[in-house]
Amino acid sequence: MRVVVIGTGHVGLVTCGTLATLGHDVVGTDADQEKTSMLQRGILPFHEPGLDALIEEHARGGRLRFTEDASDAVPNADVVFICVSTPPRSSGEANLVAVEQAVRQVGHQASGRTVVVEKSTVPAGTAQRIRKVLLQSGNGVGKELEVVSNPEFLREGSAVRDSLEPDRILVGGERSWAFEVMRELYGPLISNGARLIETDINTAELAKHACNAFLALKISYANALARICERADADVVAVAEVMGADPRIGPAFLRAGLGYGGSCFPKDLQAFEHLAAKLHYDFPLLREIVRINDEAVEATFEKVRAGLWNLEHKRVALLGLAFKPGTDDVRFSPPISLAARLLDGGAMVVGHDPRAMANAKEECPALLTSADPYEAATDAHCLVVCTDWPEFRSLDLERLREVMAQPFVVDARNLFEPDEIRAAGFSYEPTGRPGSP
Ligand code: UGA
Repeated sequence: MRVVVIGTGHVGLVTCGTLATLGHDVVGTDADQEKTSMLQRGILPFHEPGLDALIEEHARGGRLRFTEDASDAVPNADVVFICVSTPPRSSGEANLVAVEQAVRQVGHQASGRTVVVEKSTVPAGTAQRIRKVLLQSGNGVGKELEVVSNPEFLREGSAVRDSLEPDRILVGGERSWAFEVMRELYGPLISNGARLIETDINTAELAKHACNAFLALKISYANALARICERADADVVAVAEVMGADPRIGPAFLRAGLGYGGSCFPKDLQAFEHLAAKLHYDFPLLREIVRINDEAVEATFEKVRAGLWNLEHKRVALLGLAFKPGTDDVRFSPPISLAARLLDGGAMVVGHDPRAMANAKEECPALLTSADPYEAATDAHCLVVCTDWPEFRSLDLERLREVMAQPFVVDARNLFEPDEIRAAGFSYEPTGRPGSP
């Protein structure tokens, strides 16, 4: 099939790579000329494991190309994906200007039967607006434009695998011919065992909000438990294990830590709350999820402050700046919030991250960075584990203790084994686990 993907951010590029792998002819387009020219030269604007190889393979094989202007490709397309960004406005409402522009362009340029796929995460009700825009701009002999909602469930860091081996494919639509096009598009994945769930459009849009808010709820629940465990001298890791052993609860997303971040949960929670209010439903649970998430950073900050007494003239090393391991993304990253909090308090803050240092520096210019974890820890009065990159687990504790000004570790991701790190001579503050004996 012939596919156009509008917007080559994380979701758009993974969509390009996935659909080309499934055997379709794909054209990726973006309003950002610099980004497009980078992609034409095979340079990806962010780190995502396996994506560069996938893009390169299909660009070389001729099944995938990037262009600034897709006006030649849209008229021949069977399917057009809308993957443009939907950043939050100051009110929390999603800004859908780019979505409207992209849809209007498709409405003008498309010909014949074309399915317009809403892939960007958008508030429920958006597809109805898209349909209206397509009706206004998409008049023409033989033109038949149909919108479907096909939310993505991929995670940054494992996006390629999530897309090529999805546990479900959700398609919300109205016309049977559009469902058929989507079944054909994802045919190889469905034959491979991916579960296809077909619903009406509003349900598909709402399901995406429901999934992300529920995952965030699980994390905040674990973080609230951590606060309680710290007060009760209990172990949140063991509590989560007990909970996770119940198949009705499941073990995923119950890791207490520094809270969730990234370009999805914080923005989606805001947008969902905004939508609920618009629908005249008060949903305070959503606000509570966000409050507990913010509290996770504050609780970690307090541990550092309590351990150091005064923050002025103290050096704090942060291990991990990305919002989670496997990515260079620092958008709404809890480690960056913690860095800002410590800097405000008067500390000197040095961060190390295997991937995200350049982005972190841009986000928080006062933050010092070091390409080496031991160098970051040198002369530090406190080291905070902020992101659970697996490579931090194999750090040489002896060497770390020797370079630090004092052996004090606040582990905001419960990365270390408490007995082991305490035996190595550290004063160690885990998260939601029994404190120093
Ligand atoms: C999330 C969802 O997991 C995807 O299913 C969804 O498609 C995506 O948002 C989206 O809406 O586009 P992502 O933001 O890439 O994906 O990251 P996650 O792996 O879900 O992690 C989110 C945050 O939660 C990270 O900061 C992570 O450190 C934190 N987290 C996760 C915890 O603090 N504890 C946990 O137990 C799990």
